[in-house]
Amino acid sequence: MADEIKLFKVTIDNITIEVEPGTTILNAARKIGGDVAPPAMCYYTKLKGSGGKCRTCLVEVAAGSAADPRPMPKLVASCRTTIMDGMIVKNITSDRVIDARNGVVEFLLLNHPLDCPICDQAGECHLQDLSYEHGKEGTRYEFNRRTFEKHDLGPYIQLHMTRCILCYRCVYTADQLTNKRVHGVLDRGDHSEIATYIEKSLDNDFIGNVIDVCPVGALTDKTFRFKNRVWFTKPVDAHCGCDKCSGKATLWLRGDEVFRVTARKDQWGEVEDWICNTCRFERKKTSDWIIEGPTKVSRHSVISQGHYVGLKMPNETIEKVMDGRKPKLLMDIHDISEVNERDIDLSLIQGPAHSDDFKGNNSPGTA
Ligand code: SF4
Ligand code: FES
Repeated sequence: MADEIKLFKVTIDNITIEVEPGTTILNAARKIGGDVAPPAMCYYTKLKGSGGKCRTCLVEVAAGSAADPRPMPKLVASCRTTIMDGMIVKNITSDRVIDARNGVVEFLLLNHPLDCPICDQAGECHLQDLSYEHGKEGTRYEFNRRTFEKHDLGPYIQLHMTRCILCYRCVYTADQLTNKRVHGVLDRGDHSEIATYIEKSLDNDFIGNVIDVCPVGALTDKTFRFKNRVWFTKPVDAHCGCDKCSGKATLWLRGDEVFRVTARKDQWGEVEDWICNTCRFERKKTSDWIIEGPTKVSRHSVISQGHYVGLKMPNETIEKVMDGRKPKLLMDIHDISEVNERDIDLSLIQGPAHSDDFKGNNSPGTA
């Protein structure tokens, strides 16, 4: 009989769990979940060697182990530090960590443009979330932001180097997933940039996955660019009989139109199954796919606005106290506006309203 693995006890933010030896603090914290899991901008479970670059996942180790309970003098990168038996870690319960994370976000934003209103990543950008949680209202930076010469990465992928935080995820993806990596991080320090050195196009199969792993809007999909805000689209899980990849994807629909195809992501925003370029860039018709149902989107995400799965409407009490009469709190909008047809009940429309919903009276929202 195989020897049983002795599990290590670790306490993170006062919650104790047992994990296998070799588990990183980040992954142990993810087992607990919620806010206890530190943010991670460069670590990616499926990419070997990732992590240790961005410092957003810093935590305080208040006791190194049961055998040696001395605290670690500096904050450590939780994605690169493995747990020891009896370790005590503080993440959101440590003022030092929160202070350091505020500083890291300030550094990340030194050069990153705040162009969320025109960035395709808006609504699903980890840096946008971090800047809401930890960012400052203004900048203390007095110098010009970095600018770069524009590089054309080919027909599929658009690079906005000013948005890049040099997390290296796209480099590892190209290394570990495609048959040949043609891009990398060139130069050093402030001049470091993602480029192909001599203009080359990123078009080998599976390279489209760099778009999904990029935590910011530095690499975006040219077939979707500027076409829609992500929260106006409706994500559905779909699959196809692809012979190159798992064929499991998320379609981002507007009406029946497929605006974008991405890999499916887990609760940490990481790809579940890599998809090939054909699925991502060429299968843009609903007839190319078998639709399984709405994608589960965290209710905290702006993407979930308007399309909750398993929505339970709250009890309407006003009608009850008004003897069954429907409340007319201020006015009937249709009396003064002809924008919406009065027969269409917007709350009955699945997902965001589309112009098709207002054609004729057979629409799903017709009361
Ligand atoms: S382009 Fe995106 S994935 Fe690549 S290093 Fe920059 S931020 Fe990371
Ligand atoms: S996620 Fe740990 S350093 Fe970036």
